[in-house]
Amino acid sequence: MTLLIAGAAGRHGATGNHAARQLLARGLPVRAFVRQDDARAAELKALGADIAVGDLRDLGDVASALDGVTGAYFTYPLEEGLLEATTTFAAAGRRAGLRSIVNMSQITARPDHASPAARRHWLAERVLDWSGIAVTHLRPPFFLENLITIAGAATIRAEGRMYLPYGSARHAPVAGHDVARVVAGVLADPAPHQGRTYVPTGPASLSMAEQADVFSRVLGRRVEYADIPVERWRQMLSQVDGVPAYLIEHLSRVAEAHQHGEQDLVTDVVETIGGAPPQSLATFIRENRAVFER
Ligand SMILES: NC(=O)c1ccc[n+]([C@@H]2O[C@H](COP(=O)([O-])OP(=O)(O)OC[C@H]3O[C@@H](n4cnc5c(N)ncnc54)[C@H](OP(=O)(O)O)[C@@H]3O)[C@@H](O)[C@H]2O)c1
Repeated sequence: MTLLIAGAAGRHGATGNHAARQLLARGLPVRAFVRQDDARAAELKALGADIAVGDLRDLGDVASALDGVTGAYFTYPLEEGLLEATTTFAAAGRRAGLRSIVNMSQITARPDHASPAARRHWLAERVLDWSGIAVTHLRPPFFLENLITIAGAATIRAEGRMYLPYGSARHAPVAGHDVARVVAGVLADPAPHQGRTYVPTGPASLSMAEQADVFSRVLGRRVEYADIPVERWRQMLSQVDGVPAYLIEHLSRVAEAHQHGEQDLVTDVVETIGGAPPQSLATFIRENRAVFER
């Protein structure tokens, strides 16, 4: 029962990295699929993972990584290439006799979404459905980790403000390690979850003004939410290193849909499948306090 975990090195939400570690901690055999054989791969190897190095868009790389694998987690970053990587995974998985896949999608996945990346997530789900392999789709809302990278930390540190174009709409941000617990829960016992689509959320749906209040309380200084037009946010994102145009377009379109309540939902998926309640925003801020301090 070897389990293949894509995105195992982890970069942003690091769901693959957390899932690999959690499955290894349960004593399950894990093959970690990584793009490069670096220190992150060495850490996984030291924990007992078998390492497969390759590109998720390369059929040969994915086919050899899937040899002898029964269940797999598929995740691909918000970059060009999702449909190619998904189709490659589906085709190689079918040939290898893969029995189950957990697929990382998004709460935004819809055929008519204004974001091309959201539409591609919906298409990627369909490709996996057609593969004949038992699939479970995960559609989380925003990750808590976004608060560190694209949605707040720099301006919270510098001026005690969060600039975002979310109006008064709410969402229940979820930690990457909590989504990973759902991945691990499904892979450890896939049968009850076949054909299901889950929305793993954080514990509370909060407006950005309410999230700013949580920051104020935990950091012990005033943090305010500044509601800005989507166009201004687009300009701010274009000045951040490492945020490609593809992601800026997605985040801008998702912000517009978010203003209309697209992400306002709380579920018990993390607790029921992942085995424990999800991390709160307050705990996340406490654990990452240094990132938000002046
Ligand atoms: N952020 C959010 O708010 C949010 C919310 C809901 C859903 N999601 C979904 O979450 C997914 C991303 O998950 P994540 O944050 O856990 O990912 P992540 O931490 O960014 O990790 C992605 C991993 O994939 C590897 N990778 C990238 N391109 C590759 C390729 N061509 N071949 C092989 N490996 C490749 C990267 O390797 P390197 O590190 O070596 O580059 C990285 O380790 C996306 O599908 C996104 O839509 C995100």
